[in-house]
Amino acid sequence: MQLTEKTCSQMKLRFDYNNMMKDFIGEQGFSAATLAESKGLCQSAFDTVQKNRGQNMMGWSELPYNQDAIVADIVETANKVRAKFKYFVVLGIGGSALGPIAVFNALKHLHYNDLPDEKRGGPKFYVEDNVDPERMNALLDVIELDKTCFNVITKSGSTSETMSQYLIVWDLLTKAFGDKAKDHMIATTSEFKGNLIKLAQKEGLKTFYIPEGVGGRFSELCPVGLLPAAVLGIDIAAMLKGAEYMDKTCSSADINKNPAMAFAVMQYLAMKDGKNVSVMMPYADSLKYMADWYCQLWAESLGKDQTKSGKKVNVGQTPVKSLGVTDQHSQVQLYTEGPFDKVVTFIAVDNYRSQFVIPDGCEEFPNVNFLCGHTMNQLISTEMMATEYALTQKKRMNNTIYLPEVNEFTLGELMFMLELATAYAGEMLEIDTYNQPGVEGGKNATYAMFGRAGYEEKRAELESAPKKKDQYIAK
Ligand code: PA5
Repeated sequence: MQLTEKTCSQMKLRFDYNNMMKDFIGEQGFSAATLAESKGLCQSAFDTVQKNRGQNMMGWSELPYNQDAIVADIVETANKVRAKFKYFVVLGIGGSALGPIAVFNALKHLHYNDLPDEKRGGPKFYVEDNVDPERMNALLDVIELDKTCFNVITKSGSTSETMSQYLIVWDLLTKAFGDKAKDHMIATTSEFKGNLIKLAQKEGLKTFYIPEGVGGRFSELCPVGLLPAAVLGIDIAAMLKGAEYMDKTCSSADINKNPAMAFAVMQYLAMKDGKNVSVMMPYADSLKYMADWYCQLWAESLGKDQTKSGKKVNVGQTPVKSLGVTDQHSQVQLYTEGPFDKVVTFIAVDNYRSQFVIPDGCEEFPNVNFLCGHTMNQLISTEMMATEYALTQKKRMNNTIYLPEVNEFTLGELMFMLELATAYAGEMLEIDTYNQPGVEGGKNATYAMFGRAGYEEKRAELESAPKKKDQYIAK
């Protein structure tokens, strides 16, 4: 992408919070006075995030600036993969999978894997983020091992799901290719912790490192996401530029100049008012999985049971993914008339990358003919406005993130904005945004039940837990 100052400003993301305000939704909304009163809260969240940039688990904030050498290595490696392989498979879960899935779907053809080789222009792409045995077999049915490069991604280097996938695939590769197996596997992991780094060193795998201060759900803009994106031919430098542009845009605590702060404070104030559900509803198929990525970011970062000072709280909004217009025909009824417990965030696209005209030819049926001659682009945008209007009429909090179009730059902006918003919201809630004891609880229980050394106490605890009673099972 050619990125001049002008093209960057034409690609600037906007966040519209009109329909969060009393002016539009009456008593359910915020007054100008409430926003004025929250200025101190915004300033304090902004100052803390600024002060902590690049430190501890805030390594993600520097990713747009400190990866020149890494990006060069990624692009060189990606070009080799693109030249040599027909399939590229990511083995990973959570933050090691959702970013690659979101970016792939946003920026590649919507039926990319079904395109013929010459139209696809790069390897077919799969992300295996489950340990369902049917899915593993299904993958093996559609790839050709000799034409496949695997990218095993795990920050901790010990996640059971990813390590079991690695073991299965590595076994297949070594049986098929002997000491050439390593040419089919790239590892992305911590340089210092976990088991994958040790295995990668032993087997001589090409390895990219996940910086220590970058947690799983904040890792899309490091090698976790950048390598798969580059293998797909995505301009990763433009993604990072978009993130940098958003970072620079958000350089004050003023909510009208900092879309991330505006998003964070709206959600925070809404949570205080009992709006404990955050619906993310893109009006673009390409952004469907961005909603998934957001759900993990928002849920794992903000769903906590204590503040940093140890005060007992149970905070966090339940994020829900929704797709416009599809879910107008399933979930919107609830959003419009159900409990007043939601904030709906639309993601609107000003210019879609394609256009489709609804043809004429139905003049004798006026109730169908009204569609004719319009574009699908007009229809999807109008339906978003109609849903926004319907929600607003019913006094439901809603806001809209506008992307001028979906491209590498705007995706970088969007992801960085939501990461910053999560960081600000975490400060407002006074919680540790970057830990995930709830996720680790499940991981540790699995280790214990599978007999991993060091988890004996956990195993004893599990074995002494109350057993399920047959009387409560319906048969
Ligand atoms: O955000 C997180 O830290 C988690 O969701 C992790 O990404 C997820 O559990 C996978 O962990 P790992 O990358 O260590 O395998």
